[in-house]
Parts: sequence; C-alpha cells; structure tokens
Amino acid sequence: MRISCASLLSSKVGVDTEDCVDEGTEGEEVGHTPYRVGRGHRRIRQSLTDFGIVVTYMSDFPNWFQTIESNFRHVFPVPVETEFHALQLGVFTGDASLWIAENLLRHPDSTLTDVDTWQGSDETPHHELDFGKVEAFYDARLAPWLSTATVEKNKMTTREWFRSFPTITDAFDLIYIDADHTAAGVLEDAVNAHPLLKSGGVLAFDDYGWTSGIGVHEEPRLGIDAFLAVYGNKYETIGVGWQVWLRKL
Ligand SMILES: C[S@@+](CC[C@H](N)C(=O)[O-])C[C@H]1O[C@@H](n2cnc3c(N)ncnc32)[C@H](O)[C@@H]1O
Repeated sequence: MRISCASLLSSKVGVDTEDCVDEGTEGEEVGHTPYRVGRGHRRIRQSLTDFGIVVTYMSDFPNWFQTIESNFRHVFPVPVETEFHALQLGVFTGDASLWIAENLLRHPDSTLTDVDTWQGSDETPHHELDFGKVEAFYDARLAPWLSTATVEKNKMTTREWFRSFPTITDAFDLIYIDADHTAAGVLEDAVNAHPLLKSGGVLAFDDYGWTSGIGVHEEPRLGIDAFLAVYGNKYETIGVGWQVWLRKL
C-alpha cells in the first residue's frame, strides 16, 4: 500500500510538499517525517498507522515546525540582515526558535522573545511528553543565543508575560502565536499581541486548520476568526491555510 504525502497535506496552503515524505510502503519505516504528530496531524498519524507505516521523528520529540517552515521562508526572504525583533508564544523544543535565530536575527541587536510554560497543554500528545526534557532540549540547542541574550527565554504563561511586559507599542516585527490552542486562548493572545506589533509587522497563527474533535471552542480557528472579525481592517492577509499570516497596516 502506498500513501501520498501530498494528498494527506493538500489542505495546507503554502507548505512545500517537497519537504514531505512523498510515499511510504506498507510496514516500512519512514526515515524523516514532515508530519506534525498530534492535534490535527493525529489523524494523519492514525491514517499512516492504519497503513502500517511507522512514523519517526528527527529527534525524540515531534517537530511541529518542519512542515510550516516554508511559510516562514515565503514571508521572510532570508537571511534578514537588518535589526529584527520577534516574539514567539508557545516554544516547545525551539524548532521555530532555531530557524528564527539563524535566519532572522543576523543583526547584532536583533532579538527573539520566547514564552512558554514548558508544561504543555491539555492535549493527548502533550500528556505523553516529558516537558522537563522538552525544556532541557530547548535550553541546550538555544544555548548560544540565550547566552548572548539574543534569545530571551520566559518560562510563564502568555497571560503572565503580557502582564509583565512594559506597555510599549511597536516592539516586534513578527509575532508567532502557537501556545494555548483554545479559541479563547488564541483570541486573548492575539488581542494582547496587536498593540505590540509594528506597523508592517507580521502576525502569524499556527493550526488554523486543526480540528480537536471535541468542539470548536478547543480549536484556534474560532479565536482567529473572531480576531479577524474585529481587527481584520487593520491587517492585510498574506495567506490562509493550515496557518494564517497577516501583515499589520
Ligand atoms: C505546539 S507547541 C509550540 C511549537 C513551536 N511554536 C514550534 O514551532 O516548534 C505549544 C507550546 O505551547 C505551550 N503552551 C500551552 N499553553 C500555554 C500558555 N497558556 N502559555 C504559554 N505557553 C503555553 C506548551 O507548553 C507547548 O510547548
């Protein structure tokens, strides 16, 4: 039995399916996986499992950034050599952090502010993970940037971080929202993020296409749509698919 990656991921706008495993054969181990295992991709994993395909990871942890890296590359022709400031809400092992650090933070004054509880969410794949190890992995691979304060680690909820952040506007060129995936959580993060984003800055949401199976209030889409209903006139849409990418006017 052969299964096409492209058909599995066809709903993902802007994703470079060449990065995906094109095909796997029954019972065969797929050497590198583009699949985000967990949340929406749990279904894909289930499909693969149904076909007897073993899904493996680049590391011991799922890489949820791999399949959407092309969206980052599309929006930011890299490397960015000018001063750049990014905020990431929801960090996990730092796959996105690494990419941002290597490609967008080339100027000596550029920064990435990372915010995560490193306690996971109330989602089945997270229950299976040791978040102490997730955090240690992040600490180790980001160490070169953390030691120079190019990347700032904030271990707290996004709500706590927004409350602690000085009330300045126009702080960030990119804000990536990928923390609490409930509709209310995403909406709250987006509303809090809005004033901190520079005009011309990019606001990106992950998992617009994810379905939880337990109701729309547990999914980002409703929160993103609610944000767009109110703030949409302040943004131009760069792309909508698995993710939503906006540019602030
Ligand atoms: C999908 S992962 C982030 C993936 C990461 N952006 C990447 O591209 O590799 C979601 C993360 O959000 C964190 N998280 C969930 N709810 C949070 C909250 N309310 N505040 C801060 N972090 C949260 C979890 O601990 C988890 O590490």
